[in-house]
Amino acid sequence: MKEFNITVPVVELSYDELTAEERRLVDEARGATHRSYAPYSHFHVGAAILLSNGEVVTGANQENAAFTVGTCAERSACFYAGARHPEARFVEIAVAARGTDGKEVSDPVAPCGACRQALVEYEVLAGHDVPLLLVGKDRIFRLPSVRSSLPLAFSEF
Ligand code: THU
Repeated sequence: MKEFNITVPVVELSYDELTAEERRLVDEARGATHRSYAPYSHFHVGAAILLSNGEVVTGANQENAAFTVGTCAERSACFYAGARHPEARFVEIAVAARGTDGKEVSDPVAPCGACRQALVEYEVLAGHDVPLLLVGKDRIFRLPSVRSSLPLAFSEF
């Protein structure tokens, strides 16, 4: 028998400690929360993805009266990026959220498991780590890659 641990390295940063490019990405993710359609949960999530062609693609959660049909912010962003810029590769991702009170969450939110799995595939396509910024009002977590957020991710590759 063998036992091992998988650890997730997380760097906690303030907005000012981010690079200029990351601040732009965080601004875009925060802005995208205002394009969320969340009449059921009133929880507004925004995601922004920097692509290798310099474009920033955003997404926001889109809910539906048939609940399971709705889509998270991260998947709306990554599928849009894939559909709009199929040749571009992911460089970095930011996720932000506003709670039911309409205010930005103080602690960072992390993508759900399904979104992590979806994003991992684009990281594999990129062929390199794609850092993930999880944005809260007062603190931001930087994970070195999407895969680090989903240890033991499913992969056929
Ligand atoms: N949501 C996201 O957009 N991303 C996540 O990773 C988790 C949850 C959305 C789905 C739903 O519209 C709302 O947040 C409340 O769960």
